[in-house]
Order: sequence, then C-alpha cells, then structure tokens
Amino acid sequence: MGAGPAVVLYEVGPRDGLQNEPETVPTGAKVELVRRLARAGLTRIEVTSFVSPRWIPQLADGDAVAQAVAATPGVRLSALVPNAAGYARLRAAGLPVAALFVSASETHNRKNVNCSVDEALERFRPVAERARADGVALRAYVSTVCGCPYEGDVPAAAVVRVVRALRALGAEEISLGDTIGVGRPRQVQALVRAVAGEAQLGGIALHLHDTFGRALANAWAGFEAGVRTFDASLAGLGGCPYAPGASGNVATEDLVDLFEREGVATGVDLDALVDTSAWLERDVLKRGLPGRVYRARIGARTRAAAAQGGAA
Ligand code: HMG
Ligand code: MG
Repeated sequence: MGAGPAVVLYEVGPRDGLQNEPETVPTGAKVELVRRLARAGLTRIEVTSFVSPRWIPQLADGDAVAQAVAATPGVRLSALVPNAAGYARLRAAGLPVAALFVSASETHNRKNVNCSVDEALERFRPVAERARADGVALRAYVSTVCGCPYEGDVPAAAVVRVVRALRALGAEEISLGDTIGVGRPRQVQALVRAVAGEAQLGGIALHLHDTFGRALANAWAGFEAGVRTFDASLAGLGGCPYAPGASGNVATEDLVDLFEREGVATGVDLDALVDTSAWLERDVLKRGLPGRVYRARIGARTRAAAAQGGAA
C-alpha cells in the first residue's frame, strides 16, 4: 500500500463507550484514555459529549476532559454537541470539530434529545452559523439509519432527507449510525449509494454498532462501496442509553486487524491499542471487555507468558 493510511478509524470509545458505562469513570482516567489512544496512532478521537449532565451524567465532566486533551499533538478531537449551549462548551474547551447528532426516525430523536427531527435541525442552525464564523468543522451523525428501536424499519428516503438538511447546514462529514446494529451488508451499501447523491463519498463515515454481530461485515461492505472513514470503539465499548438493547460499537481492534490483514493500512498500532484496552479493563472499568480481536490477543499473550513461565 502507499505511505499513508488508506482508511481513517474514528475512535468514539471515550464518548460512545463511556456514556454507556453504569459507573462514571474518573476524569483523570478519561484524559489518560484519550492520550493512550492518540499514542496508538488514532488521529481522530471523540473525547466527550457536551450534552445535558441530567441526561448523560457519565460525561458531566466533559469540559475538564476536553480542556486537558485539547492540545494533544497529531490528533483532531471532536465532541458531541446537541444545541447552542453545547457548542459554547466546545468552544471554551478549544476543540476543532463539533459533532451534531439527529435521528432519521422521529421516536428515537424524541427519546434522545426531546424534540422532533425538524426541531433538532432548527437547533443546529445557530450552531452552524457560529461554527462557520469560528472556523470549527462540523461532523453530523444520523442515527437509526438501518432501523429504529421504537419504529422498526426506517426508509432510506428519511435518511437522505436528514443528510440533505445537514449538508445544507455545512456538515462536512456525515456519519451514518446503525444505532441498534440491525443493518445488513447490502442494506448498508444501498444506503451509502443513496446518500452519495447528497454528500461526497469522502465525506461519509459509517458508525456501526455490533448488536447482532454484523458490524464487521457491514464495515467491509461499506469499504467496498467506497467509504473510507469508520467509527469504532476500543474493545467494543459503547451503546446509546436511549436505544434499549443496543450494544457496543464495532471494536477498533477488529477493524484494524481486518483492514491490515486485507492490505488496507490504518496507521494504528494494534499492540498499543490492545495495551490500552487491557489497562482500561484492569485498572478502570474492572470488567471484561467484549472485543473479539482484543480477547484473542489477550488470550495469546496469556498463553505465551504461561509457556515462558513453564520453560523457566
Ligand atoms: P431538554 O431537557 O429537553 O432541554 O434536553 P432543556 O433545554 O430544558 O435542558 C434541560 C437542562 O439541561 C437544563 O438545565 C439546561 O440548562 C441543561 P436545568 O435548568 O434543568 O438545570 N442543558 C445543558 N447543559 C449542558 N450542556 C448542554 C445543555 N443543554 C441543556 N448542551 C437536551 C434537551 C438535548 C439537552 C437533552 O435531551 C440531551 O442532552 N440529550 C443528549 C442525549 C445523549 O447524549 N444521548 C446519547 C448520544 S446519541 C448516540 O449515542 C448516537 C450516536 O452514537 C450515533 C449512533 O449510534 O447512531 C451519536
Ligand atoms: Mg453510537
């Protein structure tokens, strides 16, 4: 392959992962997590959410986390922003990318941000104006693109309508969110093709949750359809607290392993990532993390250490 990475892995573990943890992780550990992820070679990291602390208490310390990591070299940091108040917090912290979010289905949007899809888009208008003036880039998630936990099937036309509105607001990157992990490979490809009429392929990302074990297949299908940016969460952390039953994101280690073995450079150091997940599991969350490649690597390390101990 050429010199640089051929795909961009957009790490959402500190946000999508930690928003869904039952226990609030200490601020210092969140800061350390972002630093370790950057050292592992991830160049885009979503560090927190500037949402209401009543709605997501796990990330109530987002201001302190963002301020502590804002100057991390070699990485472009973002945070979730639901409204003008969230944008003001992002600016105060000095992050360069605001990540807006809205659902393709009405009911999930109401459960998640307490307003209709059109009202959410209207809330983004002053944020987009400020961002343009401030030189802050806009990423935008469209959630429930493959199905809604409350409404079931979501028509592709509903996704396209929201993408069009977000592009008109100036979102330079659209991340298509399979919030509850019900998507299938050909469905993902059809969605990418439908959305590519509104956004350049280079401006489309996939945000795949792994509830039914199809996230990796869907990512590969997206790659074959021309997508080059994939959201992922170390060791498969994550979920949306307002989407019942939704499990974690596709694991970053699984994407690194798949792409690299297929000859597609990611720029990410898999060993450093596994070390980070092991640290998070052992010292911070104190529970087993689900990522498959992560678990396989840890198993191999344990066997190697046992064999060395046996030989000694
Ligand atoms: P609301 O209750 O309708 O609005 O919440 P409000 O304006 O009445 O605000 C309620 C309180 O929050 C007020 O405080 C506000 O000042 C405060 P109080 O007067 O009660 O003390 N507030 C804020 N505080 C800090 N930062 C702010 C902010 N805004 C208001 N930005 C709201 C509306 C949008 C705020 C709320 O519904 C909310 O925060 N929702 C966020 C839910 C969330 O984070 N969900 C998970 C992320 S989405 C996701 O996971 C999907 C994704 O990963 C993609 C995918 O998987 O598909 C992105
Ligand atoms: Mg998500």
